[in-house]
Amino acid sequence: MPNNLNDKNLEKVKRVYSFWGKFPSLYNAQDAITFLGKAKTIRSLAVEKMGLKKGDKVLEVACGSGRNFPYLVEAVGKGGFILGFDYSQEMLVAAKQLCERNNWENVKLVHGDAARLEINKNGFDGVLSVLGISAIPDWEKALQRCYDVLRPGGKLVVCDARLFTGFLKILNPLVRRIYSKFAAWDSSKNIPEKMKEIFRNITIKNYNMETFFIAVSTKSLSPNALLERSF
Ligand SMILES: C[S@@+](CC[C@H](N)C(=O)[O-])C[C@H]1O[C@@H](n2cnc3c(N)ncnc32)[C@H](O)[C@@H]1O
Repeated sequence: MPNNLNDKNLEKVKRVYSFWGKFPSLYNAQDAITFLGKAKTIRSLAVEKMGLKKGDKVLEVACGSGRNFPYLVEAVGKGGFILGFDYSQEMLVAAKQLCERNNWENVKLVHGDAARLEINKNGFDGVLSVLGISAIPDWEKALQRCYDVLRPGGKLVVCDARLFTGFLKILNPLVRRIYSKFAAWDSSKNIPEKMKEIFRNITIKNYNMETFFIAVSTKSLSPNALLERSF
């Protein structure tokens, strides 16, 4: 993506999520609408599909206000570690408050652009992104970064939204407009296809009348990957 377009889109992300970060309860309310009332079920399923164990290290890309933290904290336990990464300072403030309220001391929050994520190559047991990749301007690079930070055998789980199919597709122009303006959502990205290209494997399941999908890719245990890890 050309640099100036990327910068312009990042400005939009900053503007849009500065609002939601200041009003996390409002964000939670719209979350219920976006997930058609099934936010808890779909979020917990996405975390379940990461196949985490107690003590694991997890990265959540575009973690926002921390809506997935309860499930991640439960999965990795007190001995595990969660790194929440997001571009919006205001969303991170909301995430920090959530962690403080719950005494989650093993969650660290970092600010930055996921496309430029340069932390801990091969260092994470799992990477999660829920409604994140579709909002990240340079999303293809961000997916590559997710691959890089995973250990061989680790899973990337992406849970994201799609436009309606079937008779409800008459609503799509409106949905596209609203979510682009208020959530920086770009429905034109083919996220599963890019995941498959990078990881060479994918499994996908659809939910909520196909308006949501959970895609899982595993970083291969190829000899090259193992070699990279040992150095
Ligand atoms: C719809 S919210 C999803 C938040 C959270 N994952 C959830 O499940 O509620 C999209 C998030 O993507 C973040 N985001 C957008 N572009 C980003 C980027 N380039 N790098 C990191 N985070 C980004 C936004 O700041 C926002 O918090």
